[in-house]
Formats: sequence, structure tokens, C-alpha cells
Amino acid sequence: MKKVNLVFGTVYGSAQFTAETLEKALIELGFDAKLWQPNEIGQFVPPENELLIVVTSTTGQGDLPEDILPWFYNLRNSAPYLPKLKYSVIALGDSSYDTFCGGGKSVDELLAELGAKSIVPRLEIDACETMEPEVEAIKWLESWNKIVQSELAA
Ligand SMILES: Cc1cc2nc3c(=O)[nH]c(=O)nc-3n(C[C@H](O)[C@H](O)[C@H](O)COP(=O)(O)O)c2cc1C
Repeated sequence: MKKVNLVFGTVYGSAQFTAETLEKALIELGFDAKLWQPNEIGQFVPPENELLIVVTSTTGQGDLPEDILPWFYNLRNSAPYLPKLKYSVIALGDSSYDTFCGGGKSVDELLAELGAKSIVPRLEIDACETMEPEVEAIKWLESWNKIVQSELAA
């Protein structure tokens, strides 16, 4: 049973609800999903033999929500080399901002700098287009799952 770590960053709860919805869907797909709460993840370094999905919104002007910042800064400062880590980012934002999905982009860039491999392109969910980001995330999970299954079979 492949383990999937889910990390989220939220201000108003949409990214959290999206991550909770993904956790349930992953368990139904047979994964060992772990949804990390913001107060648990300060020192969390994602294990390279497990999968990582980060769901984060954007606040301010392209900034990460406060609840995910300790994790982000810790990873950036400790800079572990994670070449075997496979990750995916779901970014919630609003395209009326020039800094659309800036928070998710920052996480994606950091993980790539640490050597980790993105297994599917970042999903950007626009609050101007949908009020139900979890629905988009569940659709995205289908393509994520196909790629993961083919990699696990290889
Ligand atoms: C004060 C404020 C600032 C925001 N800044 C940005 C931004 O810079 N870029 C962006 O894409 N979205 C921005 N957003 C939109 C949110 O990221 C979007 O509504 C998201 O769905 C909120 O998710 P959450 O409930 O998980 O926080 C901002 C929203 C607010 C209220």
C-alpha cells in the first residue's frame, strides 16, 4: 500500500477541504493517505519512498498562507536533497490577481530545487471559474492515479 502524504495551506478553508476530499478518495483507491495538519508539519521532511501532494491557496500578493509557511521555510532552509521524491502540487487561486496561484508556484519551485520530481503538471484551480475546487481536484486525481499506477507497475 503506497503511502501518500497530503500537506495543505489555507486561509479560508477551501484548500483544507480539498485536501480532506483527496484523502478520502485516495483511501478508496487503496492508498495509505496521511493528511498532515499545519501544527504537525513544521519539521516534516517528505520521505522519498512515499508520494507527496501539496494543496495550497494563495494570499496577499502571491504569498503562501501562514499555516504552511513554517514547513516551507524549514524545507527551504534545511534544503534536503530529495531526488527520489515524487510530488504534485494543487494550487488554489484567483485569476483576477496578477500573482495567480503564486503560493502553489513557490512550493512547486522549491520542491524542484530540492531535486524532487513532479509527476503531473501543477493543477491550478481558479476561484473565478469554480466554487468547488475539490471537484476539480477529484477529476485531476484520476490522471494522477493512472500515472502512479503505471509507475508502480514498471
Ligand atoms: C486577501 C486575499 C488575497 C489573495 N491573493 C491572491 C493572490 O495573490 N493570487 C491568487 O491567485 N489568489 C489570491 N487570492 C485568492 C485565494 O487564493 C482563493 O480564493 C482561494 O480559493 C482561497 O483558498 P483558501 O480558502 O484555501 O484560502 C486571495 C484571496 C484573498 C482573500
